[in-house]
Amino acid sequence: MRTALITGGAGYIGSHACKALARSGWRPVSYDDLSQGHRALVKWGPLEEGDIRDRARLDAVLARWRPQAVLHFAALSQVGASVLQPDLYRDVNVAGTECLLAAMRAANVETLVFSSTAAVYGVPTRLPITETTPVAPTNPYGETKAAAEDAIRRAAEGGKLRYAILRYFNAAGGDPDGETGESHDPETHLIPNAIAAALGKTPTLDIFGDDYPTPDGTCIRDYVHVSDVAWAHIAALEWLEANDEPITCDLGTGQGTSNLAVISAVEAATGRRVPWRTMPRRPGDPPVLYTAGRAARETLGWMPLRSDLPSIVGDALKWSQRLQ
Ligand code: UFG
Repeated sequence: MRTALITGGAGYIGSHACKALARSGWRPVSYDDLSQGHRALVKWGPLEEGDIRDRARLDAVLARWRPQAVLHFAALSQVGASVLQPDLYRDVNVAGTECLLAAMRAANVETLVFSSTAAVYGVPTRLPITETTPVAPTNPYGETKAAAEDAIRRAAEGGKLRYAILRYFNAAGGDPDGETGESHDPETHLIPNAIAAALGKTPTLDIFGDDYPTPDGTCIRDYVHVSDVAWAHIAALEWLEANDEPITCDLGTGQGTSNLAVISAVEAATGRRVPWRTMPRRPGDPPVLYTAGRAARETLGWMPLRSDLPSIVGDALKWSQRLQ
């Protein structure tokens, strides 16, 4: 059995990736400090607790499991918090990635799939986004992910590293079998917040801005089902096994969905009204983000299978009801 080390394996996207790996015949070993992740979401392989910046711990874990590949999810990922704590974000997201790269080199682990983000593109001047859209982040979170990408490219130039960089658009939804899902504290994402408001867990949903240059005035995002994001990692691993070239892919559907369209989808799924109000724009929110997503389709042979809005919202609702 092949082994993969999943940093951040106890987190939202990392845990879905562990399930996808286990189904594809891999043993996923999660490496997580449980600062954001949840022990209960590590269901498909062992958990090694550790900080991504702890070189001695990483060395010990790599020596113990001798993985064929590393999938690197561990990171801080909130745009707003990154503005307040840029140094912490640089430390965890950039220095942490550099620490992992050094440990991988020392342990002769040569395959890496990295979780990057649409935030590296900032506010694009042309749509749809493609992988050749200039990288121009507009907040510290996006800057740290772009810097981590650079660190990976540099490591590959100086060594034997094969890597795939996957830039997620809006990962959303939950495991279709209800085995894992999104549990952030605090929750900042639109879909779980809209569900919470519909179910009466929170009094109201705040919609940040209704004066954007979009058809209904609210922001537009490209929602991609977290299980589709997970299986893209399997496709990336297979591609890296067969090819000796690095690859960078956006993961999205090519479809833009407005915040008000999300509210309608949540109302349809729950059968309840979402109480919401308009609030001022959230600093740093780009008006419109969606990707053409060609590299993933044409190179990896990946396509979203469950990323229609009703499936995303339905699976997120299933998880949210389980948490009650
Ligand atoms: N929104 C609300 N109310 C909420 C939450 C969100 O109106 O309670 C709005 C946001 O302002 C935005 C849209 O819903 O217009 C989507 O917001 P999310 O927080 O769900 O997602 P983001 O697009 O801000 O963030 C996602 C990832 C980030 C990544 C970013 C790239 O979660 O990690 O895309 O732009 F950095």
